[in-house]
Amino acid sequence: MATPSIAGVIFSLVLALSYGALQAEARVFFVFGDSLVDSGNNNYLATTARADSPPYGIDYPTHRPTGRFSNGLNIPDLISQRIGSKPVLPYLSPELRGQRLLQGANFASAGIGILNDTGVQFINIIRMYRQLEYFQEYQRRARALIGVDQTERLVKGALVLITVGGNDFVNNYYLLPYSARSRQLSLPKYVRYLILEYRKILMKLYKLGASRVLVTGTGPMGCAPAELAMRGTNGGCSAELQRAASLYNPQLVGMLKGLNKKIGKTVFVAANTQQSHLDFISDPQAFGPYNGLGLCTVSSDLCPNRNLYAFWDAFHPSEKANRLIVEKMFSGTTKYMYPMNLSTIMTLDAMA
Ligand SMILES: *[C@@H]1O[C@H](CO)[C@@H](O)[C@H](O)[C@H]1NC(C)=O
Ligand SMILES: *[C@@H]1O[C@H](CO)[C@@H](O)[C@H](O)[C@H]1NC(C)=O
Repeated sequence: MATPSIAGVIFSLVLALSYGALQAEARVFFVFGDSLVDSGNNNYLATTARADSPPYGIDYPTHRPTGRFSNGLNIPDLISQRIGSKPVLPYLSPELRGQRLLQGANFASAGIGILNDTGVQFINIIRMYRQLEYFQEYQRRARALIGVDQTERLVKGALVLITVGGNDFVNNYYLLPYSARSRQLSLPKYVRYLILEYRKILMKLYKLGASRVLVTGTGPMGCAPAELAMRGTNGGCSAELQRAASLYNPQLVGMLKGLNKKIGKTVFVAANTQQSHLDFISDPQAFGPYNGLGLCTVSSDLCPNRNLYAFWDAFHPSEKANRLIVEKMFSGTTKYMYPMNLSTIMTLDAMA
């Protein structure tokens, strides 16, 4: 009969210990929002808002399209790397079960907005209220695996990212010259309405147990290649869309401050992606490669080095830009992250 060698026993012990330590360090991560953070939910839906064919994913580790709207990694992937977790799976993925389920989930769906009427042209997408229903369903599934108390702890200890709002401008208010929303409300009134509706969504998220929520502002929408082509102002970014962002982003930060005050804790943290992406865009080489005409398809004109560009397709940042955005989330000053950056949050929460 073979007896296990001492070395073997110690080895497995070390393995078990380090696995345990890794597990304890990796933070559960939930993602909500639109295409900027969708990691493939739309692959499972009958919608035109999808990124499951080449050249999407050309710089992803597998060099294959995954449903991420990026040439490579997206913002959630890069946050996962930094917090020591595996990339979280799309909620609709059949692989999301057992241990993987307990590491978090990504509910995001390309095309959606704060409002239900945003992205109607994409037909079958997971609107915000539905993402929150799925979050409840997620919790029921987790309870079946680990019980009520552990599930509550898991959700409370998680980091949450929500990125939504850009489509309420580009795929709603500014989609057509005389869109229903723009005939109904002036831009300042529309922005106030969005903020009010977003507040309800965030409050619901908090009531569902989220306790650290990173909320991103809208990026520099007016500089996206599609908008440059359609409504660029004197060859520069669209002044109208930049005005929308400059109205929206400060009110978003104000609303988050108000929510934290009401709750009595820093649950919501504002990430000003507008500023960090703009920093990158101010680099003269940063535009392209699609110049905003047409879709990102196999026949698109691929530039050889995607690392030189802020945008990958007509609307979405390149992996390189995503890296810069995530870097700022972790170590930016209060100009980028309010009231604190993710490094500070991770340190604080590790002590709690
Ligand atoms: C969006 O639709 C859902 C489901 O029909 C509804 O509960 C919710 O109130 C709607 N939101 C808005 C802002 O109309
Ligand atoms: C943000 O993160 C860095 C660490 O990466 C830290 O030095 C800095 O003080 C933090 N906070 C602010 C407000 O800059």
